Amino acid sequence: MTSIDSLLKEPRLSQDVTICGWVRTFRSNRFIALNDGSTLNNLQCVVDFEQMGEDTLRRITTGAALRVSGTLVESQGRGQSLEIQVKTLEVLGDSDPEKYPIQPKKHSMEFLREQAHLRIRTNTFGAVMRVRSALAFAVHRYFTSHGFYYFHAPIITGSDAEGAGEMFRVSTLDPRNPPLTPEGIIDYKQDFFGKETNLTVSGQLEAEAYAMALGKVYTFGPTFRAENSNTSRHLAEFWMIEPEMAFYDLDANMDLAEEFIQEVLRYVLDHCREDLEFLENRLLDEEKSKPQAERSAMKLTDKLRFVTDQPFRRVTYTEAIDILKQSAPNRKKKFQYPIEGWGTDLQSEHERYLVEKHFESPVILFNYPAEIKAFYMRLNEDGKTVRAMDILFPGIGEIVGGSQREERLEVLQQKMQQMDIDEKELWWYLDLRRFGTAVHSGFGLGFERLVQFTTGMGNIRDVIPFPRTPQNAEF
Ligand code: 4AD
Ligand code: MG
Repeated sequence: MTSIDSLLKEPRLSQDVTICGWVRTFRSNRFIALNDGSTLNNLQCVVDFEQMGEDTLRRITTGAALRVSGTLVESQGRGQSLEIQVKTLEVLGDSDPEKYPIQPKKHSMEFLREQAHLRIRTNTFGAVMRVRSALAFAVHRYFTSHGFYYFHAPIITGSDAEGAGEMFRVSTLDPRNPPLTPEGIIDYKQDFFGKETNLTVSGQLEAEAYAMALGKVYTFGPTFRAENSNTSRHLAEFWMIEPEMAFYDLDANMDLAEEFIQEVLRYVLDHCREDLEFLENRLLDEEKSKPQAERSAMKLTDKLRFVTDQPFRRVTYTEAIDILKQSAPNRKKKFQYPIEGWGTDLQSEHERYLVEKHFESPVILFNYPAEIKAFYMRLNEDGKTVRAMDILFPGIGEIVGGSQREERLEVLQQKMQQMDIDEKELWWYLDLRRFGTAVHSGFGLGFERLVQFTTGMGNIRDVIPFPRTPQNAEF
């Protein structure tokens, strides 16, 4: 058996081949478009009515699984270069054409989300998921070839790395009748782990321990956030890539993030041409149905080159606030969240203004106010900003969040006190500052946001196989 992808790449003309796949369409009782998922392209299989018999022909319906053997020849018809002249055909699995949800027509993304187990059989989702796979490979390739070790952070953890309190509890206690302490609160000492545990929101704190021994490490795994954000850029379960490097300061961290993203995107530009071309055309079609003012001027691959072919602009938070304050949309009260002054967090409308309108390039914002960032970020000499950096992309807003970490024990302890974080919970994290502390840095890249950017999909739910969002954990 051969895959359609390898047949098309290295056609062995006039030879007998066998392929398996699913029927996309069947026309004129003669032409089967077969797809096996190895590539966007279908392979046309030409059957002979007389030879097949009516019973078999009737079973060749959209969605059915077939095994086909025959001779690979140059196609007479238009629309494809090769076809198989079928000698034998076996229906492996029938599909009721009346009931099969994926008809050969355009379906809405909302409908396909409800059919997430079958939507991968469409051109769009096939392309997205192949690109997703290539991106994941490119991530590992980059780090492996740059001296990083792949490290697996635990999924179940006792600590809230981001301090945002958006965690999913992990417990085996009976929710109807939990054991209580004398004070009447749930007694987690009697729970499975003997303490409160949650699904991790980030592998960073554990990655820091590993960086302080192996030098350069990265995690790439699922993370969980119970934030009730029903947006096109938030998932309750998403994959995050988190490199962590000993002896890197913020500038080195930014250099790495920029080079890493550019190299990963170059990899898919080189290796996923067909799928990207398909996704680009799909977007162009979609654009045509939008009003002129909302159309994007950039094609998908232009957008990718917008990132790979120019340096990211590095701007301090303070500079960004000045730009935003004086910006036309702020003066005309067009922002949903007006920029009032220094110290407020930026919303994605502000981030996108900076990237898409003001700088017209990817932007790295750094040195944020300490109050709006996590406890572990290194305090600057001014005493009010921290060495944080966010990378902002067109259409997406924040794609990376990272920082230089606070390596000074006393400063970190003080910060934890201010933010009401229990030292006892993070005793081991403080140990890293007690024994051989050093400057170190890292960042987190939301993998689905990267896939979203690369494929041009409008909703993050359409770039992860089975999305988990508020009120939705089907499949
Ligand atoms: O900015 P965040 O919260 O940073 C951290 O978790 C750090 N501990 C990372 C580090 O320094 N090692 O999240 C990092 C990135 C965001 O920039 C965004 O791309 C993505 O993770 N992200 C989400 N993606 C999808 N759905 C969500 N709910 C996300 N929350 C964050
Ligand atoms: Mg962030």
